[in-house]
This record gives sequence, structure tokens and C-alpha cells, in this order.
Amino acid sequence: MCGIVGVVGNRNATDILMQGLEKLEYRGYDSAGIYVVNGANNGRLIKSVGRIADLRAKIGIDVAGSTGIGHTRWATHGQATEENAHPHTSETGRFVLVHNGVIENYLQIKEVYLEGHTLKGQTDTEIAVHLIGQFVTDGLSVLEAFKKALNIIEGSYAFALVDSEEPDTIYVAKNKSPLLIGLGEGYNMVCSDAMAMIRETSEFMEIHDKELVILTKDSVTVSDYDGNVVERGSYTAELDLSDIGKGTYPYYMLKEIDEQPTVMRKLISTYADTDGNMNVDPEIVKTVQEADRIYILAAGTSYNAGFASKSMLEKLTDTPVELGVASEWGYNMPLLSKKPMFILLSQSGETADSRQVLVKANAAGIPSLTVTNVPGSTLSREATYTMLLHAGPEIAVASTKAYTAQVAALAFLAKAVGEANGKQEAIDFDLVHELSIVAQSIEATLSEKDAIAEKVQNLLSTTRNAFYIGRGNDYYVAMEASLKLKEISYIQCEGFAAGELKHGTISLIEEGTPVLGLISSSEVVAAHTRGNIQEVAARGAHVLTIVEEGLNKEGDDIIVNKVHPFLATIAMVIPTQLIAYFASLQRGLDVDKPRNLAKAVTVE
Ligand code: G6P
Repeated sequence: MCGIVGVVGNRNATDILMQGLEKLEYRGYDSAGIYVVNGANNGRLIKSVGRIADLRAKIGIDVAGSTGIGHTRWATHGQATEENAHPHTSETGRFVLVHNGVIENYLQIKEVYLEGHTLKGQTDTEIAVHLIGQFVTDGLSVLEAFKKALNIIEGSYAFALVDSEEPDTIYVAKNKSPLLIGLGEGYNMVCSDAMAMIRETSEFMEIHDKELVILTKDSVTVSDYDGNVVERGSYTAELDLSDIGKGTYPYYMLKEIDEQPTVMRKLISTYADTDGNMNVDPEIVKTVQEADRIYILAAGTSYNAGFASKSMLEKLTDTPVELGVASEWGYNMPLLSKKPMFILLSQSGETADSRQVLVKANAAGIPSLTVTNVPGSTLSREATYTMLLHAGPEIAVASTKAYTAQVAALAFLAKAVGEANGKQEAIDFDLVHELSIVAQSIEATLSEKDAIAEKVQNLLSTTRNAFYIGRGNDYYVAMEASLKLKEISYIQCEGFAAGELKHGTISLIEEGTPVLGLISSSEVVAAHTRGNIQEVAARGAHVLTIVEEGLNKEGDDIIVNKVHPFLATIAMVIPTQLIAYFASLQRGLDVDKPRNLAKAVTVE
């Protein structure tokens, strides 16, 4: 998390930095700052606690220059104060640095190298820039000092450094944290995410871990830490400026919820040909066929999407699927099967926890597939294979369309593998047709927004806690539904297996506790869940039911159009996304930028 942007050689540096930071705000939004410099020793450093808008309010027209670096922060070391906001400066003030990541040995560095230094805040970053400054004071050139510091610093980082005495250069380096170069005519840029540079350029260059880049207005020199120059070509990103705007929507989240039918259709056109034949990379299919177990590793909503796809994957591929929380597996890998394959699910493709698992998988020679929304992302680059979600940029912190796109993308993979195995159920499963029905079901639910908003008002506008319950796939949807509600409404919500509630947790049910019951699947399962709903209702719970058409009864609250059982998790999650959205809205919260969270979590 944290977003970095830098530009060298453009007279509008301030404007470019501020525009970029606004686009990067999803990565962290507790404080922000920019440093803009107009000729040697003529720089301005402006920082602010709060959002980018708060920073903007502090920037006058006198803050101008042709080189600059900016940062939006998600605090790791030290509170969200102005002193801890980036950019940070060296002891003499000569060097200015922005950083994304965590420097693990910062306390040792302070002890060993920075005796007598006065630090203004508590961040690890400030120590890094003091270290560089110290090495220059000791007599090293800026480049040598930067290199020496990089060889000492341990942990994750994306750095952009400016020497105020020679401000026509930005020094850049990265390890484990995302960073890429944007190439312009007469100027160059550096940024955490292509999206934030797309207004200026669509030409980009990757930076790999432990590479150092010297950026001037008309040159980009990439080298390793030993100074060996690396030749690297650029690529053109296919990003559309309109994709990253809100249009007429009040919030990105609502826009992204509404985009889901379009995303389903986009996946159909990507992963099937016009005759309905699967269009999935045969190498990926073969890899899954050869595996004796599929391990899905992910975090947050993507982890829940893995569960939502599990039974479909198992039924179509005849291969057991095991789920793992990435942050747990990175360092506590359980005993694996003999021929494992890993699927990394990640909207951003940058989640550090998931990447750590991939590093381990690669070291062990385990084949891997990243299913991500972001082409060229770290997980995509480092996995054996990639399948893209084609969902368009997802900007709201709470993930919606990426979840449904992940389940749908995995459906194409599952069917392709099942067909390759000659499995009749896979051959008979008309995914293209069934996914079009899903798109229609989503549209039908979206047309019920007003009714859903009203039910939410009655149920969730003041409560402190709530439960989602369901069985089988509905339980998996309940996990995601409760995460979504927690994230943006701050209601303490648990997603629970309906039948398990009575074995302990039912003690939390009291008069008025909201319980949202999910019912799809078979008559028998539905009857059991209804039984569990009765049990909580008898204890005073305030119940809302979300039921698949055909299983509905009088008095049910939200009816979801029926879809193929393999894809029911997609249809059933839509009302829960709207419920979370309206609960957040009605409680007067910032739907797109909930407290304490960030969209791309690039620290472990
Ligand atoms: C963060 C976000 C979540 C997201 C998770 C995994 O915690 O706040 O919304 O689900 O990261 O992100 P990924 O990009 O790997 O899907």
C-alpha cells in the first residue's frame, strides 16, 4: 500500500503529481505529501494529514516545478501525522524520498549508521533517507550512496529519491513493492500503478526487484545494484481514461456493482469463441489436468472467491481443491499433495501475502496460475501462467466485480479441464449460455436497488453486529457478504455455516440482532437453513432472507433469479454487495474509502 508518483522534466509537475495521487488514493489515504523542485535548491515540500483533497487545499500556485515526487500513505510505522507523512528529508534537507513498503532492519540501521541524527517522526522511511544523506556526507557520490543504502536495507520498498542540488534526476529502486516507469516526450515518470499515469502516457517500462533506475527527462537507465545495465523494452498499456472515472455515479463501488453484467459478457467473449468452445490456454488446462490437487491461495475477497469456486472446480475437474489464506501459507506451508498446482487469486496482482506464497511455490517448482485483473502485475509476471479478469479497473476499496469475475473466470477453466478429461457433466455444461443467464439475473437484482435500500434502512442503519448464515455455497457467499458489510459499514458481522450456529454462536443472538439468511441450492438444504432461521427468529433475531427463485416462500425479502448451481455464488452475492453499499451510505460513511483499509496491500 501507499502510492508513489514522480515526474521529471515536465513544467506541470505539481499538477501531474496531484492528479496521480488522486488516482492512487485507493492505496492509502491517511496522509499525503509532495515535493516539487524548480532548479537547484529551489524546492517546496508540502504535507498534510488526511485525504488528497486536504493536501490540495494547502498547495498554492507558488508550488511549481519541473521535477517532483508525491506520496499517499497507509501508515505502517508511526501514526498518521504530518511528521510521518512522506516525502521525508535527510539530516541536511538535501535529499527527499518517498517510499512504499516496510524496511525491516530500520532500527539496526539507525543504531549502526545514524548516531547524532535528529529524526522528525517515527517512520522507517526517514531512516532510509538519512542513511543516504549520511553516505554522501561521508564522501560518496549520490549514486554510490543510494546503492550502498540499498545493499544495507532489508525488506520491501519502492523508492523515489530526489537530490535537491541536482533536481533533473529521480533515483528509483524497488524490491517486492510495485513500481513502474512511464515514458513521455521530454519527460519521464515513476509510479506505483499505471492507472495514475495514464493521463500523461500509455507507454510503460517494468522495473524488477533489486533494480535501480536513473530517470531524467529524456533517459531511463536501468541497472542491477552492481551497476550492470539492463536493457528493457517498453510496452503500451491498454487502459482507457474513461474506465477510471466515476461517471455520474456517486461512488465507484456502485458503478462497479453495476458493471458486473458487462464483465460477465466480456469474460464470455474472452474465454469462449463464437461457437461456444472454450478459449483457455491449453497449457493451463494441461497443468490442471496433471495436478492431483489444486491449491487456491488468496487474501480478503479473493480468498472468498476461491471458496465460491471450489465446488464447481471440484465437480468439473474431479480434482480436490484446497483453500489457503495467503498470509498464513507464506511461512507455514502445510504438507502438500504429490502433484500440486497453485492458483493465486488476486484482483490487484500485487498483494504481498499472496506473492510470498508464490515465491515459495516457484522455489519448490510448483506450477502456478495467477488469476488477476491487472496485466503485468507482480503476481502475473512471476506465476507460470496468467488468466486475466477483464473487469476493468476496480477502484472502490471494497471489491465487487473482481469477486464475480474470479468465479466466472475459474468456471471457464473448470469447464475446459473437464472437457479435456472427457467428463460428460463438463461437456453438457453450457457455460456461455449459463453465464448470460447469470448476467440477466444480476441485472434483475440491480433493478431492485430501491427495495433493497429500504430493507437495509430497517435492518442495519443502527445495529452494532449482524450475521449472515447459509449452507454449502451459501455459506461461502455468507463469508464474502459479511466481509463486505464489515469493510464499509463497520458493523461487526460474521458469515456462518447455518447449521453450526446452534453449536455455540447462537448465544450471541438477542432481541433485534440482524440475521441475513441465504438460501439457494436444493430443497433439502433450503429446508434445513429455514430451520436454522426459525431458531434465531425464536430468540428475537431480526431476519432478512435472500432466496433463489423457486425456493422462495411467502414473506421472503429478496428473490434472486435462478441460475445454474455452479454459478449460484455469483448471483447470490449481488444483493449482499448492495446491502453493504446501502448500509455504508445510510450510516454516513465513505463507501469507497473505508477507514484503516487500502485496496492493494503490498506489505506482509
Ligand atoms: C485488501 C483489500 C481487499 C482485497 C484484499 C486482496 O485487503 O482491502 O478488498 O480483497 O486486499 O486483494 P487482491 O488484490 O489480492 O485481490
